[in-house]
Amino acid sequence: MDETIFDVAVIGLGYIGLPTAASFAAKGKLVAGVDVKQSTIDAVNRGEVPFVEPDMGVVVSGAVSLGNLVAMTTVPAADAYIIAVPTPLAEGNGADLSYLRSAVEALAPKLRGGELVVLESTSPPGTTERLGAHLMELRPDLSLDAAPGKKQVHVVHSPERVLPGRIMIEIVTNDRVIGGLTEEGAQLAKRLYEVICQGEILLTDATTAEMTKLVENTFRDVNIAFANELSLICDSLGIDVWRLIELANHHPRVNVLRPGPGVGGHCIAVDPWFIVDAVPEHSGLIRTAREVNDSKPHHVVRQAVQALADQPGATVAVLGLAFKANIDDVRESPSVTIVQELVRQLPDSTVLVVDPNVEELPAALTASGLARLHGMEEAVAKADLVMLLVDHDEFLTLDSVALEGKQVIDTKGIWNQQEPADSSRPHTPVGASVGG
Ligand SMILES: NC(=O)c1ccc[n+]([C@@H]2O[C@H](COP(=O)([O-])OP(=O)(O)OC[C@H]3O[C@@H](n4cnc5c(N)ncnc54)[C@H](O)[C@@H]3O)[C@@H](O)[C@H]2O)c1
Repeated sequence: MDETIFDVAVIGLGYIGLPTAASFAAKGKLVAGVDVKQSTIDAVNRGEVPFVEPDMGVVVSGAVSLGNLVAMTTVPAADAYIIAVPTPLAEGNGADLSYLRSAVEALAPKLRGGELVVLESTSPPGTTERLGAHLMELRPDLSLDAAPGKKQVHVVHSPERVLPGRIMIEIVTNDRVIGGLTEEGAQLAKRLYEVICQGEILLTDATTAEMTKLVENTFRDVNIAFANELSLICDSLGIDVWRLIELANHHPRVNVLRPGPGVGGHCIAVDPWFIVDAVPEHSGLIRTAREVNDSKPHHVVRQAVQALADQPGATVAVLGLAFKANIDDVRESPSVTIVQELVRQLPDSTVLVVDPNVEELPAALTASGLARLHGMEEAVAKADLVMLLVDHDEFLTLDSVALEGKQVIDTKGIWNQQEPADSSRPHTPVGASVGG
């Protein structure tokens, strides 16, 4: 029997790969979703999404039930391959490209010539060129640039820039950058993405495309670092950082971002390091911003320890474990660092973790046995200190009566902001300028 040749094979069915696969399948493409995790394959083939992401369930289940999306653990033959595997930080601030290499090694034997290979994973400058070279080592019978007598394979980079929580919308509406090792490859990729993308598709070379993604996240990181540094300065000066930023932002050309408990996630907390690692001699500002943001969780912990200095054995309710609002992703989450440190620095205290989107504590927290997941009402009722670390919708409407008589560290400024500036507060904030 002839082997099925899929229109698209998406390698890596995580937060990026699965919505991409489902979006192409929903447009009628025959899509193979490939992952090394059997539990992911089983979930997808049942039409389920193995993580929390709004609006995705219906697209995945529809695509699977129509037979347009099939998940599997081995790479099949396909006309286009999209690689969406992790590119985490390695020791020494470079990227760990081992997942990418495995993906390329798995697809190389399937190439017949004429295919498109798209690297969607966020990658340090030069990665697409190096992967292309690796592919040619594996398949010397093929060529990247139409060498005489050889069939060509088109290798491009198209970074994904969707926002968790809005992935199914942004995968369609965002503009998309495509950088080809060749112009022809970029054009082919453009035709492919036009199937799902309604935004503008902008073509460039592969290294510029890689840097575009890194620069976007670095821009955010540097600006958040400015807000986080301001929050520390305001604590020292005894002023309210939220009010300060609100006032400064009345200037027509000023838009200071909001501080928080630190910066987390797979992207903003990681990507700037790829630039620092590539060109350390010119990345002083970017490195410092990363360090400011990485130091912020420790500042929040110092505030909690200070607040409870006279209350040994106190109970702390930590609201929010994910790295941002309304998602379940705890990767690089500052909240995880904060809970770990609270448990370590307040050994007599009980830390009750509340996160409506997180079903299990990550391994980093279960090891201590001291932090436990709780419902919001119960945790707040028991707490001497309530720490708001993530602005999940469920937390925005917490009745201020529940906070009466408790100490509060509001790192997102949402409860502080709901009160008139001159009102007597219903609870005892540990400095309204905690600024996260
Ligand atoms: N999550 C985001 O918001 C986001 C946004 C933009 C870009 N990115 C980038 O996209 C890439 C993927 O991120 P993600 O969040 O989807 O990661 P993820 O961890 O959610 O998913 C990656 C998937 O790849 C699978 N995998 C690992 N090695 C594999 C292999 N050799 N073959 C097949 N499957 C393999 C894993 O099992 C996992 O299911 C990363 O480079 C990330 O930086 C992520």
